[in-house]
Amino acid sequence: MGVFVVTGAASGIGLATARRLHRAGHVVWCLDRDAGRLGAAFPEPAGSGVRSVTVDVSDDVATRAAFEVIANESDGRLNGLVNSAGVVPMGAFDDLSVADWELAFRVNVIGSYLAIRYSTPLLRSSGGGSIVNLASMAAKLAGPYTAPYNASKAAVISLTRTAATCLAPSIRVNAVCPGVVATPAYEMIDATLLSLGAPPTLQSVARAATAPIGRPASSDEVATVIEFLLSEAAAYITGEDVNVTGGFVMH
Ligand SMILES: NC(=O)c1ccc[n+]([C@@H]2O[C@H](COP(=O)([O-])OP(=O)(O)OC[C@H]3O[C@@H](n4cnc5c(N)ncnc54)[C@H](O)[C@@H]3O)[C@@H](O)[C@H]2O)c1
Repeated sequence: MGVFVVTGAASGIGLATARRLHRAGHVVWCLDRDAGRLGAAFPEPAGSGVRSVTVDVSDDVATRAAFEVIANESDGRLNGLVNSAGVVPMGAFDDLSVADWELAFRVNVIGSYLAIRYSTPLLRSSGGGSIVNLASMAAKLAGPYTAPYNASKAAVISLTRTAATCLAPSIRVNAVCPGVVATPAYEMIDATLLSLGAPPTLQSVARAATAPIGRPASSDEVATVIEFLLSEAAAYITGEDVNVTGGFVMH
């Protein structure tokens, strides 16, 4: 059985992924900045194979320290990393602040890079591994109320390609691009869109209804694709951005 790190593991897609890996018998290190939600998500007793670390992945020093703890307690073993921690600063296009742009890039891009950077020595010394970054269909579409998020997710795809090139052949790196997924993040986005006076067609269920499959995904439907990309079954796949959008985006 393997050892995996999942960032953003206290909620949504990260939580569903951590649960799938745990059910499969792996040791899962769950990283999240929200200690309260992390504790509630994994009330399992010590020794159950789930370990939690409270960390802001955009903080270089704290993220390096978290991976030092993981290295020490796992005897240097690590087989995979999932970067699911993410934020969605929102605002009308001409109202966005520098802070909105910095937050999106610090967490979504730099946070993913830091986790990749500090996991790489462990993955290499464990004989190789697989990294999955959460991008988004937003990377490939305009985002009238989420410009920094869309740009940051395009950067996550770019980061994925560079990392796949630089870390090959022992470490594979892929991105998953979900569409509308029923998670706490989307509830927050819908409420903010309403408060910004955005058209009802941008609400998550209305958007999902326009995709061929016509409904939001569950977190587990995304987690199952992540689990596949982490596995040996995906041994010849690297540098990809895999859409999980119900057909909303096909490029
Ligand atoms: N929900 C969707 O429809 C959807 C669609 C496309 C892409 N995504 C992407 O998938 C990923 C997971 O989304 P979700 O819907 O599960 O979100 P979520 O809000 O339910 O969970 C995100 C988790 O990340 C954590 N987090 C945020 N900033 C952090 C930081 N700096 N350090 C550590 N942890 C941090 C939060 O505490 C939270 O537990 C995100 O990267 C998101 O952009 C989601």
